[in-house]
Amino acid sequence: MSPPLTPARRDALSREILRLKADLNAVILAHNYQVPEIQDLADVVGDSLGLSQQAAGTSADVIVFCGVHFMAETAKILNPEKVVVLPDKAAGCSLEESCPADELRAFQAAHPGIYTISYINCSAEVKALSDVICTSGNAVRIVQAAPVDRELLFVPDENLGAWVREQTGRPMTLWPGNCYVHVEFTQGALARLRHRFPDAPVVAHPECTQPVRVLADEVCSTEKMVTYCRQSPAQRFIIATEIGMLHRLQKECPGKTFMPAVTDSLPAPTDRCRCSECKFMKLNTLEKLRDCMARLAPQIHLDDPILKRARLPIDRMLEISAPARAPVSR
Ligand code: 13P
Ligand code: SF4
Repeated sequence: MSPPLTPARRDALSREILRLKADLNAVILAHNYQVPEIQDLADVVGDSLGLSQQAAGTSADVIVFCGVHFMAETAKILNPEKVVVLPDKAAGCSLEESCPADELRAFQAAHPGIYTISYINCSAEVKALSDVICTSGNAVRIVQAAPVDRELLFVPDENLGAWVREQTGRPMTLWPGNCYVHVEFTQGALARLRHRFPDAPVVAHPECTQPVRVLADEVCSTEKMVTYCRQSPAQRFIIATEIGMLHRLQKECPGKTFMPAVTDSLPAPTDRCRCSECKFMKLNTLEKLRDCMARLAPQIHLDDPILKRARLPIDRMLEISAPARAPVSR
């Protein structure tokens, strides 16, 4: 087991990571759900869309991806010639697990001509079976741009898919998958929190269920949460997404207060609710980040045909969402 992260150890590890970064000509990309110490030394912290855009445009030789496996895979698909490493290869995603490529292939074979829109939280193999990729930040736009004469299939998040269907009015078949973290938030717990803090807008991720989304003042991607909270005159907010988001929000909006949404079992916002912690995102630590840079392992490797085929729907997504705002670079 690694020693506890004392301030001195955190400083020493951070220095080592920054030295390795310079030696390798690397860029460190971190998702908004990463632990604070990783967010604080990353070059870019953002949502899936912003990080894909950054990966597509980087001139670094090595991409160090602090997030989950499908995010690092996306960076590799966009940069087949570069080395892409991640702190822990076991950092998966319940959405990715819910849509095995074989099952999607079988569904498509039974529904010839169906247009497949895949949420970026899926494997490279599923991406290779898709017509277009989307993230929570551009899903509405991507579905609006889908051909009007085709039947639409949305995989693998039924909650994001249902929200996009409401926003666009486009009928879509939804794959039965969900995020095990976001479905824990309940309408009852959120209603009690709202009642207690009536001045605090509720900001929810579209991976939450519909009964939770209807109580929200804003439903958006993690990056758009930053913009919303920064621009809002409100001084405190209830945040229904993974707990790591609160660190980013607190940094971007100093002086404002952010309360995590809780589940039915924990009625008070001061009770830390571990059910809003993504066990996959939290596999990454500063030690593992240092190690993956020192060893250049684990690395993402993908077969050439998958790499080439998976790139097409990602490029389509990037084209459609070209003017979208990139995350904050440091
Ligand atoms: P964002 O793209 O909104 O950051 O979402 C990624 C994710 O995994 C949400 O659970
Ligand atoms: Fe996947 Fe949910 Fe974790 Fe996001 S929070 S990476 S959707 S399991």
